[in-house]
Amino acid sequence: MSFTRRSLLAAFAGLPFAPSALASAQTVGLGELAARSGRYFGSAVTRDDVSDAGPHLRLFDGECSVWVPTWQMKWGALVPTLGDVPDYRACDAIVASAAKRGKRLRGHALIWHEHLPAGAERLSTAADWRRFVAPHITAVAGRYRDAVFEWDVVNEAIEPYDGGADFMRRTPFYAMLGSDYVAEAFRLAEEAAPLARLYLNDDHLYYAEEWQERRRAGMLGLLERLLKAGVPIHGLGMQCHLDTRLHFDDSVFRRFLKRIEDLGLNISITELDVTEAPNARGRSISRRRLRAAAEAEKVLSVAFDSPALAGVVTWGLSDDDSWLRNRGPDMVDNQGLPYDDAYRSAPLRDTLASLFASTQTRHPT
Ligand code: XIL
Repeated sequence: MSFTRRSLLAAFAGLPFAPSALASAQTVGLGELAARSGRYFGSAVTRDDVSDAGPHLRLFDGECSVWVPTWQMKWGALVPTLGDVPDYRACDAIVASAAKRGKRLRGHALIWHEHLPAGAERLSTAADWRRFVAPHITAVAGRYRDAVFEWDVVNEAIEPYDGGADFMRRTPFYAMLGSDYVAEAFRLAEEAAPLARLYLNDDHLYYAEEWQERRRAGMLGLLERLLKAGVPIHGLGMQCHLDTRLHFDDSVFRRFLKRIEDLGLNISITELDVTEAPNARGRSISRRRLRAAAEAEKVLSVAFDSPALAGVVTWGLSDDDSWLRNRGPDMVDNQGLPYDDAYRSAPLRDTLASLFASTQTRHPT
């Protein structure tokens, strides 16, 4: 690609030295590059990222065709305590900003065992589901039925370490309906938002480690059961929180993707970032950024070969805002996103650009 750090700064940051006409001719946003290859590119966003007064709006606008609220659509964000009236203000602000700028929205997530309303961890019966969970799904999916083109209906349903023969995570949702909660959630989502593409979303499905093999088996089993039962499900979201410490074998990942493709499902990469800090000792920051980009390239180049890959979303654009940095004392300077702390483009951005530029999908977005 022919853009330079200077041209990106010029196009997106609007700095005084910007040679702006040249910059805009040279710079094509990742969303635009993705669209040319029949896919989408997006980022998780906060309300500040996309507000008219936000300092980085031009970056999120210029780079993305899709936005995903990082936090604001989660149940506990809308309803801090079980029984509260939902507060949609932050979410509505993101939806309005997206509409104004022609962005498509991925909804994340209707059902997740983390960040629940206080009190929801005690829900355990089918009556609780009917009283609290079903109305939540119906209300949120319904409110945003014209705004959200793709929903993560259930996030992180698989956890072999919880000990179930079905490898499903034991959550309050599981306590309420057993494994049927997933099918029920999808049926409710479809009723409320009939045009949206409905996804199961999960992590740790890419590396050759044995524990990830069990997660792949659990996920395939669940997807097969849902499809056999006629549940309206259209895709698998792979979070892709990658990690340079894990062992990757492209044939293992390719085989898994082929199985998903053969089920007729879409595949999306929904939360891309790279953990590289814990084993970065002795490496310069620029080498660390290159290493993060190489890690993503390794995994994504296999995913990009799949005609089922609908798009890629990164979990934020700049390392400065990355959730990974709060994940422990050895993560505070992690370098795992397409832009560095000063919102300058990093090698991972180039990697994404060349992947989009060099591949095509047959899959309609
Ligand atoms: C994280 C957000 O980035 C944080 O801001 C929030 O406090 C917690 O959730 N997998 C997911 C995402 O599916 O929802 C998580 O996002 C990151 C891990």
